[in-house]
Amino acid sequence: MYDINAAAVGVVNSGVLPFDEEGAAGPLAEAVAAGRLVATADPASVATAEHVVVIVGTPVDEHLNPDLAAVPRAIERCVEYLRAGQLLILRSTVHPGVTALTEKLLARHGLGIEVAFCPERIAEGRAMVELFELPQIVSARTSAALARAEKFFRHLTEQIVPLAPEEAELAKLFTNTWRYVKFATANQFWMMANDFGLDFERIRYAIRYDYPRAADLPGPGFAAGPCLFKDTMQLAAFNRNNFVLGHSAMLINEGLPLYLVSKMEESHDLGELTVGILGMAFKGESDDPRESLAYKLKKILTLRAKRVLCADPYVRD
Ligand SMILES: NC(=O)c1ccc[n+]([C@@H]2O[C@H](COP(=O)([O-])OP(=O)(O)OC[C@H]3O[C@@H](n4cnc5c(N)ncnc54)[C@H](O)[C@@H]3O)[C@@H](O)[C@H]2O)c1
Repeated sequence: MYDINAAAVGVVNSGVLPFDEEGAAGPLAEAVAAGRLVATADPASVATAEHVVVIVGTPVDEHLNPDLAAVPRAIERCVEYLRAGQLLILRSTVHPGVTALTEKLLARHGLGIEVAFCPERIAEGRAMVELFELPQIVSARTSAALARAEKFFRHLTEQIVPLAPEEAELAKLFTNTWRYVKFATANQFWMMANDFGLDFERIRYAIRYDYPRAADLPGPGFAAGPCLFKDTMQLAAFNRNNFVLGHSAMLINEGLPLYLVSKMEESHDLGELTVGILGMAFKGESDDPRESLAYKLKKILTLRAKRVLCADPYVRD
C-alpha cells in the first residue's frame, strides 16, 4: 500500500486503523501481523504489484471546480516505477474523461499498461459488509483489460456489471447525485411542512406506509460529507454548469443550517443563550468531520449565540 502521507503509513503499519471502519480493525491487525499488508511512502513499491489500484481523493476546489488532474498527478508521481503488463485500476470517483486522460498519460510514457475504471461504491463505515455484497461496476477499453479487472473483483463478489469507461464514470456520479437530490427533496418537504406548522415525520410516515413507490423518501437532515456534495458539483461542472436540479439540491442542503438558526431565532433570543451541537461528524456513528454541515451550523451560531458548545463521541478534534 503506497500513500504519500507518512503519518497514515505509520499508523497502518502499527496495525491500527487511521479512521473508524466497522469490522476492519481485526482484519487489519491480522494482515499487518502476518506481513500480508505493508504500507509505505516509497513510490518504488508500485513496481512490485500485478494490479495497481488508485484511490486518491478527488475533491472539488473552493470554486466548486473538480480537479481533473488529481488522478493523473498521483500516477505521474510514481510513473517511473510502473511496468508493462500491470493493470492500473482507477477506483476514485472521477470527472468523466479522467480514465481517457490516464490512458493518454501512460501512452505518453510508452508504457504497455492497461487501465480499468471500477468505482468504489461502499458507504463509509460499511466497507467490510458492502465490499462483498454490492455488485461491482467494471469498465475498460479492451476486452482483455475488462476480463482482468473482472477476475480481480471476483475475489470480492460474483456480481459484476460491465460498462464502457465513460458510462461507468457517469454511473458513479449519477448514483451519488441521485442520493444528494433525494436528500434535498426531503429537506425541502420538511421545511415546507415546518413553515406550515406541521410535523413532516407524520406526513412522511403516511406517505411511506405500505406504499412501496414512496419507500425511498428519506428523512430530513444535514446532507453533505466528502462525497455527495462534491460529486454533484463534479457532475454540474461536467455539464458546463448547466444542472438546475443539482444546483438547487446544493442550495437546499447547504441552506439547512441557516434555516435552523433562523427558526430558533423566531422563538429564542440567541444572543443570550449558550447553544449545544450534539454530533459533528458528517453522519451518525462516524468519526469523519469532512464537509460536515455541523461545522457550518457552528459558524453561523458563533456569530449569533452567546456561546456555542460542540460534542461528538466519535470526532477527536
Ligand atoms: N471514503 C469512502 O467511503 C468512499 C466511498 C466511495 C467512493 N470514494 C471515493 O474514493 C476516493 C478516495 O476517497 P477517500 O475518502 O478515501 O479520500 P482521502 O483523501 O481520505 O484518502 C486518499 C488517500 O490518498 C492518499 N494520496 C493522495 N495523493 C496520493 C498520491 N499521489 N499517491 C499516493 N497516495 C496519495 C492520501 O494521503 C490519502 O491517504 C474519492 O474519489 C472518493 O470520492 C470514497
